Amino acid sequence: MAQSFKAVAASSLREYLLALQESGLDGLPDAVVSKAARLLVQGPAALPSAMAETVAVPHDLKHESLEKIRKSLGDCQRCKLAKGRTNLVFGTGNPQARLVFVGEGPGKDEDLQGEPFVGEAGQVLNRIITAMGLKREEVYICNVVKCRPPGNRDPEADEIAACAPFLLRQLQSVHPEVIVALGRFASQTLLGTKEAISKLRGKFHDYHGVPVMPTYHPSYLLRNRADSGPFWEVWEDMAQVLRLLKLPVPEKTRKR
Ligand code: URA
Repeated sequence: MAQSFKAVAASSLREYLLALQESGLDGLPDAVVSKAARLLVQGPAALPSAMAETVAVPHDLKHESLEKIRKSLGDCQRCKLAKGRTNLVFGTGNPQARLVFVGEGPGKDEDLQGEPFVGEAGQVLNRIITAMGLKREEVYICNVVKCRPPGNRDPEADEIAACAPFLLRQLQSVHPEVIVALGRFASQTLLGTKEAISKLRGKFHDYHGVPVMPTYHPSYLLRNRADSGPFWEVWEDMAQVLRLLKLPVPEKTRKR
């Protein structure tokens, strides 16, 4: 029988706290403790804000390596997505990247290859990264959940709860200067909001000190004509990211 949301959340939380303790932390701010308690009492409804709040903790921690975090996931069976996966898709790229892209969860190609954004949407993401004057190996790419949701449905609350501690630890470990949240799901989950992506994109949101730029998901761009409005909106978002990183913004001109 599937574990209840609270059981999964409690064991994920326990694991995350043990990892924090191992990293040298011997106490948590009261605000975090009360959020965690609220998560356990209220269940999935409290998840996004509890998750965003927990991210406040890590900045002054000694960073764990991505290898260690991957190792602690092991042959993960913490949620029901484990049953349907071919490969767990942890993340790829530069462990010290200044820029991290966070997607939703692996699709079919990613599940087969064990790497995020290698399918059609990945090709679009690669083009975005190249247009920014960067290389895929320079940035870090990961997802909110590490295993493919069946039929590419949105990840469910218990699945996010099981995976969230690992995403938090990855973000702590890489410690980027900017995070780009790809699409509605990643943006809403990271920022703890239900606001539409069209409202969230185009400006930086504070993620406890780390600026987050939400933008449209690459697969949304696949459903739009090249050179259409959404392409240019994503480009404007990425230009802001480059400016924040004090990197040159390549000149782009709209064809029509
Ligand atoms: N879509 C995502 O959100 N992540 C992937 O890794 C691939 C497609």
